[in-house]
Amino acid sequence: MVVIERSKLRHALIGCSLGPCLGAILLVIGVPTNTHGQAAGRDSEGHQWWQHAVFYEIYPRSFADSNDDGIGDLNGITRKLDYLKELGVDAIWITPCYPSPQVDFGYDVSDYQNIDPMYGTLEDFDRLESEARKRGIRIIMDFVMNHTSDQHAWFKESRSSRDNPRRDWYIWRDGKGPNQPPNNWLSTFGGSAWKFDPTTGQWYYHFFYPQQPDLNWRNPEVEKAMFDVTRWWYRRGVAGFRLDAVDTLFEDPALHDNPVLPGKNQYGDPNMANLYNTKLPELHGVLERLRQVADEHNAVLIGETWTKDLEELKRYYGEHSNELQMPMDFLFTRVDKLSAGEFRKQIAGVNAAGWPVYVLSNHDIVRSYVRYGDGRHNDEIAKLMAGLYLTLRGTAILYYGEEIGMENNDPKRKEDVKDPIGRLGWPKEKGRDGERTPMQWNSSQNAGFTKAKPWLPVDPNYRTHNVESEGKDPGSILNFYRRLLELRHQNPALLEGAYVPLNEDDPNVLCYLRTYKDEAVLVVLNMSAERQTTTLNLTSQGFAGAQATTLLTTLATHPERLSLSSVSVDPFAVYIGKISK
Ligand code: GLC
Ligand code: CA
Repeated sequence: MVVIERSKLRHALIGCSLGPCLGAILLVIGVPTNTHGQAAGRDSEGHQWWQHAVFYEIYPRSFADSNDDGIGDLNGITRKLDYLKELGVDAIWITPCYPSPQVDFGYDVSDYQNIDPMYGTLEDFDRLESEARKRGIRIIMDFVMNHTSDQHAWFKESRSSRDNPRRDWYIWRDGKGPNQPPNNWLSTFGGSAWKFDPTTGQWYYHFFYPQQPDLNWRNPEVEKAMFDVTRWWYRRGVAGFRLDAVDTLFEDPALHDNPVLPGKNQYGDPNMANLYNTKLPELHGVLERLRQVADEHNAVLIGETWTKDLEELKRYYGEHSNELQMPMDFLFTRVDKLSAGEFRKQIAGVNAAGWPVYVLSNHDIVRSYVRYGDGRHNDEIAKLMAGLYLTLRGTAILYYGEEIGMENNDPKRKEDVKDPIGRLGWPKEKGRDGERTPMQWNSSQNAGFTKAKPWLPVDPNYRTHNVESEGKDPGSILNFYRRLLELRHQNPALLEGAYVPLNEDDPNVLCYLRTYKDEAVLVVLNMSAERQTTTLNLTSQGFAGAQATTLLTTLATHPERLSLSSVSVDPFAVYIGKISK
């Protein structure tokens, strides 16, 4: 793995190694559709449900604890559905809640067709699904495709003997010699990617922890078994999957050594380009076929795609838009400072690549509140960033707590670290606990998350940054998110409009239109700590009018109208206004 600069943007885990009519007919003849009864439904602009939906990522351990054991659970999520509805969420992506030894907190799955008892039962899942459906909220599950847990029945069989029928479901090889792994590949979580198994005297391959053996996707039986897992969940009502670590599905069968680069990574291993074990072309065949299954259920596939450039990102949509509908654009998260120019560049790029998918942070990435915050204007900056990714053309995925300004709470001492990579890489790599702390519901003890000791400590900022207190404050980050999401759902230009950049040389103010028919929404974002005054001439965009009507703003003056000849914006302020022909 090439180590990405990890100062603020921390967890780039993979590294960057180098027909509407038919839909209508199907509806009429009553072909079963999965969840919300909209077979391949497109709107008048040809957009599908996931293009207008606001997605929200829930890390179930940390969202809401219904039985007070210190760990969040599915019933906890069900209780908070009204909150999510009111916020303006249309789909929730729940990170893995399947049975798991929890070595990687659920990303080591020991049974893909059940719920871990710590999170509840399948009945709890069904209740969550039906309560969500009543509120028009869809459920996206996490599909950990690359590897299982070493406690999965498949792996237990596979490791039991060299001639077990499931032997070839994983990647087993002879070492180069005694105590010598088959080649130089490294685990992205530190150390060799090969583990010797004395039972059969061979090594198995694991891109992540040794407890996460990689599946062999060259074996058609693996593909069939895994695809059937998705079918099973679709029948249970899920509306799609977030595909974990898709970059790593295939490895070079000849096991060529990876090129070694200068320097050492955070675990003290050599830096390496993952040339022969990530992003192999074969993975696109799997994605195409998985997409066919998804299409039968009107489902969406979201990809954890650590692309290094736009060409790679484009490839994940598929040459005929037949792979992932929503490959996540982490290039955007790599702009880890407020830079109008950098954001402009990324937005233009991803707009040209396909339907954009915007993410600011997640359970592997330092929270946006910290990455962009300057320590003095963090709340204003949080609103500024919301004003950016929620007004762009594309689909946004919010990470729980972003809407209240949750910050990272990194462990102070090695002995407190829960995430194994933090223990291994301490102090350079503190792990991902900081961005996974309990959701802050109110200012009572443990932020109202649990009555027990929470599995991770609540961040001290919960006293001011929590759902209840912010709900009462009209100027809070939460209320800004609510108003913005409401606007986004109602305003056709924000939903359907084209993205038109303005004043592209301005280093401080990021400014654009979303144009739709005779209307446009103007977005002005001051990315600097100084007041900025700028002039907007929209004649060449076909809007000669000299005024905007305010829709939502954090400008201190709250003007009803704004004159475009001299637009004066407070530090880090957002202005969103309507312009008509
Ligand atoms: C993905 C997940 C991460 C996990 C890894 C291994 O990168 O987002 O949390 O550790 O895959 O499954
Ligand atoms: Ca619990």
